[in-house]
Amino acid sequence: MNLKNKTAVITGGCQGIGYATVIKFLKEGAQVVIVDLDKKEIEDTVINLRQYEGQVKGIAADVSDKSSVDEAIQYTIDHFGSIDIVVNNAGIVQDAQLLKMKEEEWDKVIDVNLKGIFLVTQAAALRMKEQKSGVILNASSVVGLYGNFGQTNYVASKSGVNGMTKTWARELGRYNIRVNSIAPGFVLTHMVKEMPSHIVNMMKEKSLLNEIGKPEDIANAYAFLASEEARFVTGTVLSVDGGLVT
Ligand SMILES: NC(=O)c1ccc[n+]([C@@H]2O[C@H](COP(=O)([O-])OP(=O)(O)OC[C@H]3O[C@@H](n4cnc5c(N)ncnc54)[C@H](O)[C@@H]3O)[C@@H](O)[C@H]2O)c1
Repeated sequence: MNLKNKTAVITGGCQGIGYATVIKFLKEGAQVVIVDLDKKEIEDTVINLRQYEGQVKGIAADVSDKSSVDEAIQYTIDHFGSIDIVVNNAGIVQDAQLLKMKEEEWDKVIDVNLKGIFLVTQAAALRMKEQKSGVILNASSVVGLYGNFGQTNYVASKSGVNGMTKTWARELGRYNIRVNSIAPGFVLTHMVKEMPSHIVNMMKEKSLLNEIGKPEDIANAYAFLASEEARFVTGTVLSVDGGLVT
């Protein structure tokens, strides 16, 4: 999966699935701009990736804030001259059952997971339209397809991501822009490590492969969808979940 001479913006690239995707894309030859919240964490991440010096940059931005998103997209163009791939990976959880969920918890998760993807994609797609090519990849989740106990806000955001993916594939195909999302199952990252171990074990047992995923499993799927090998794939939600939901 060759990504040579492609420029990718990866949001939430400092840890977890985002960080694994940054490494995979760098190995495949892409130039990568990491967009994440904390300036110091971004600097440390770029230092850790010093073997790819010149190929990786980072900028602090909150994906739910339009002006910082616009700045991040402009930064990418200024440094690498184009924007070929966006991985809308940044996402958060703030779980509570419907009857206990606070309005702030609803708003925060929708702001980051849904509005964030809208803002980043809109800013990037305007550039991609001029280039007449591009790839947008969105972080969904299996729960966006099947629902989940205690995750009203998160499930709404991920179902929304699937809807936006299909809508944008329709709108942007004429500009040679492909749009897809990935619905991971349970993947061992900070997000999942915070969950009670009995739930993680239950998810492992439910998976047909009896496994929890690794961040690299998702990164590999993003790399495929970003590459020319997926040139005929658009408007799809790819489950990468070890057969958790079939
Ligand atoms: N881990 C899983 O099991 C799993 C399953 C399904 C879907 N996902 C989705 O995959 C994506 C990555 O998950 P993860 O487990 O690696 O998460 P994580 O919590 O390990 O990392 C998320 C990253 O996003 C960044 N981020 C958060 N809010 C941001 C904002 N407003 N602006 C910019 N950056 C922000 C964080 O700083 C962090 O670096 C998320 O969208 C998540 O919903 C994860």
